[in-house]
Amino acid sequence: MEVDPFPASDFDDWASTYDQSVLDEASFPFWGYRQALGTVVRLAAVQPGMAVLDVGTGTANLAQMCAQQGCRLWTTDFSPAMLDVARRKLPQAQYLLADFRQGWPAGLPLAFDRIVSAYVFHHVALAQKVSLCAEMTAHLAPQGKLVIADVAFPHRAGMEDVRRQVGEEWEEEFYWLADEAVIALQQAGLQAGFTPVSACAGVFVVEQT
Ligand SMILES: C[S@@+](CC[C@H](N)C(=O)[O-])C[C@H]1O[C@@H](n2cnc3c(N)ncnc32)[C@H](O)[C@@H]1O
Repeated sequence: MEVDPFPASDFDDWASTYDQSVLDEASFPFWGYRQALGTVVRLAAVQPGMAVLDVGTGTANLAQMCAQQGCRLWTTDFSPAMLDVARRKLPQAQYLLADFRQGWPAGLPLAFDRIVSAYVFHHVALAQKVSLCAEMTAHLAPQGKLVIADVAFPHRAGMEDVRRQVGEEWEEEFYWLADEAVIALQQAGLQAGFTPVSACAGVFVVEQT
């Protein structure tokens, strides 16, 4: 049987200390974490009353920022412990235990004004990122947007610079290379743009053409 390189149990173990490890932004790959989440909210232009889905919500840091804009929130994650922390922080959101690699979960509304996600897509390779983006954008209402913050580099040379800089802190995951990703998303018939936030983070806006 194939071993899952990113099992839910790893995130269950991390849930109680997660906020502490990301919010000080000191360690790779969380440089610019708060700005990345703020950039999602700004580029998504979340408005009161909008239906918003946060995929891989973790401890609900991004969901909380969206909720402050007055939207209606649904969230998914595959880690029960992360969802427990999130529920305590943001009781008014809807929570669904689901693995985003398995496609659109039953139990969610069929269309959202915005789908947002932060620091989740780097657990899947580029081809799966593109197919998940295609599926998610198909669940957007007209003029909807999919807005994704993640560990991302403008190009391979930028990633190699950071890899050298962080040395043993480097973790081998499926980090985004924005130049390749934008072309792949466009080849799949989607509109895509990238806004860099720090040396290792950036935000993608993906829409149907
Ligand atoms: C680095 S944390 C990011 C959490 C939150 N979005 C944030 O920005 O702080 C990654 C989150 O994605 C979730 N996750 C990872 N792989 C997933 C998967 N295949 N399906 C659903 N959730 C997943 C983890 O449980 C964890 O909560």
